[in-house]
Amino acid sequence: MAISSAYICLLFSFTIFVTFGSCHNLPENHVALFIFGDSLFDPGNNNYINTITEFQANFIPYGETFFKYPTGRFSDGRLIPDFIAQFAGLPIIPAYLKPGKHKFTDGVSFASGGAGALVESHQGFVVDLETQIKYFKRVEKSLRQELGDADAKKLLTRAVYMISVGVNDYLTKNSSASQEEFTSMVLGNLTVALKEIYKKGGRKFGLPNMIPLGCVPYMKAQSGGPGNDEVTALAKSHNARLPKTLDKLKKELQGFKYSLCNMYQFVNERLSNPSKYGFKNATTACCGSGPYGGVNSCGGKRGVREYDLCDNPADFFFFDSYHLSEKAYLQFAELIWSGTDDIVRPYNLKTLFEDKASSIHHPNVVNQP
Ligand SMILES: *[C@@H]1O[C@H](CO)[C@@H](O)[C@H](O)[C@H]1NC(C)=O
Ligand SMILES: *[C@@H]1O[C@H](CO)[C@@H](O)[C@H](O)[C@H]1NC(C)=O
Ligand SMILES: *[C@@H]1O[C@H](CO)[C@@H](O)[C@H](O)[C@H]1NC(C)=O
Repeated sequence: MAISSAYICLLFSFTIFVTFGSCHNLPENHVALFIFGDSLFDPGNNNYINTITEFQANFIPYGETFFKYPTGRFSDGRLIPDFIAQFAGLPIIPAYLKPGKHKFTDGVSFASGGAGALVESHQGFVVDLETQIKYFKRVEKSLRQELGDADAKKLLTRAVYMISVGVNDYLTKNSSASQEEFTSMVLGNLTVALKEIYKKGGRKFGLPNMIPLGCVPYMKAQSGGPGNDEVTALAKSHNARLPKTLDKLKKELQGFKYSLCNMYQFVNERLSNPSKYGFKNATTACCGSGPYGGVNSCGGKRGVREYDLCDNPADFFFFDSYHLSEKAYLQFAELIWSGTDDIVRPYNLKTLFEDKASSIHHPNVVNQP
């Protein structure tokens, strides 16, 4: 109820701004959404690269709940950025690699399932973060051609940038680097990416932290039940350091604002008390095979043909061996959109979208707490 009225309200304000819009028909307060990262956010970029089915979800039953066809999203329906776009009054943000002519004024998604902050993570099968930034620079150039330098900069400065990265680095860690060294590498590369976006005008960043990685069905099956504490420890170490990394950037970069979303806590709360949040099953994946649905065979195209599929994905917290169901993603999106600082801090995403102070022309205004 609250969401639909917010949506109507946004539509209404949109109409007003269009009336006073510039010659490019870009409403004065238009806020675009750019998306980077991995399968948590990928709307189907991996459909268009040369990869293997492990990193794709463009076959049934993926997508069955909402889209009614497999879009390439690793869930039964919409992902977190799809809901955020909806709450912000934007259309669904398309995959950058989808062929055809793109209009980038609402934003675009560069996220690629399996991608990490480190180039080595699933190298050759995914679009790594560095390459996603390269694509973003192309988009920036094309926006400047379309809108002119000043309006393009304005659009990029007002835009929100959502980034989910690190999971695939931690899941594939096989170097002898210590926990400390390895998280430094991941956070170091993330920092470089954030600075590159900042250089092009980006000011508002939304980032989830790591989920308890060792508790996904795949990891539980691998360990014979209890999960993988080592990989969860990496996630915890990342999560402990991420706020410091972001606060350091905030001090360094004039006008840098972030919204840090506590996905770790979100997942833990639902794993320990599924029924409280409307889930009948948070131990087994809706789609997959073997114990806990931990064999990553959803769809039968990843080397194992057999798989089980539950009747109602909304009863399940996990949709496949690694990923959550649409219902779980919706719950998280609602919390980070308008939630309080126990789940999202120092700003929620709604605040970032509505923040009109961010402007390259008034750098002195934006550094207020
Ligand atoms: C990130 O890390 C890798 C090492 O894994 C490195 O080769 C790469 O150039 C780094 N930088 C960026 C911006 O991704
Ligand atoms: C892990 O090992 C594989 C195979 O030796 C290698 O190709 C890959 O780059 C390594 N991954 C990382 C993150 O170092
Ligand atoms: C979850 O679903 C699986 C597969 O249908 C089933 O084996 C398991 O008992 C269920 N767990 C709960 C807590 O209902």
